[in-house]
Amino acid sequence: MPFFRDEIYPRLVNMLGDPPPIREIRQKLIPMAEGKVLEIGAGSGANFVHYDATRVSKLYALEPNPGMIRLAQTQLHRTHLNIEFLDLPGERIPLEDDIMDTVVSTFTLCTIPGIGEAIQGLRRVLKPDGKLIFFELGRSPDPAVQRWQKRLEPLHRWLFQGLSLTRDIPALLMQGGFQISQIEMGYIAEFPKSSTYCWWGTAT
Ligand SMILES: C[S@@+](CC[C@H](N)C(=O)[O-])C[C@H]1O[C@@H](n2cnc3c(N)ncnc32)[C@H](O)[C@@H]1O
Repeated sequence: MPFFRDEIYPRLVNMLGDPPPIREIRQKLIPMAEGKVLEIGAGSGANFVHYDATRVSKLYALEPNPGMIRLAQTQLHRTHLNIEFLDLPGERIPLEDDIMDTVVSTFTLCTIPGIGEAIQGLRRVLKPDGKLIFFELGRSPDPAVQRWQKRLEPLHRWLFQGLSLTRDIPALLMQGGFQISQIEMGYIAEFPKSSTYCWWGTAT
């Protein structure tokens, strides 16, 4: 349903994807980005204002959804960043090896269909001393919540175009060769627990 995917879904994410608890974590994490930065699934540009434009030489904002890119372009006046949009999926990052100082994923690794390829691609483009900044939603450690996550997964996958509630993102990053350097985790809201369990931090 291209109309839902390209018109409704971007507005839904734009409306619901940046409430105060999420914004506070973005404010803490995103200024750690420096040098050449790749953000995959940049969405409607919710992170743009949080980058430190004096430390980021260029931001490659990869985003395959044209409706998201349209919304992200409306954020450009709020930042001095040098931004280039790449309208391709994160499973096929069109950049050379070992060139990024930072890669960023916020709520994209929990959405992207080919998470294995995406993680490999992030590793490939990242310099050996570069870092990944992540903030992702996923599988709660609480079995009762996990049962709800399994029940609600199909609805979320449809409404949020692939969003999975049941991925263990830190485990997938480690399987993909990343080492977690800093991590925090927890429910970012009291309710519903099924769609608010997150991890955020950095990996190398
Ligand atoms: C939940 S939104 C998060 C948007 C934004 N990163 C944020 O923090 O608000 C997930 C994003 O992943 C993007 N996405 C979906 N499939 C993708 C793919 N194959 N490659 C890259 N991005 C993808 C969606 O278009 C959407 O912008």
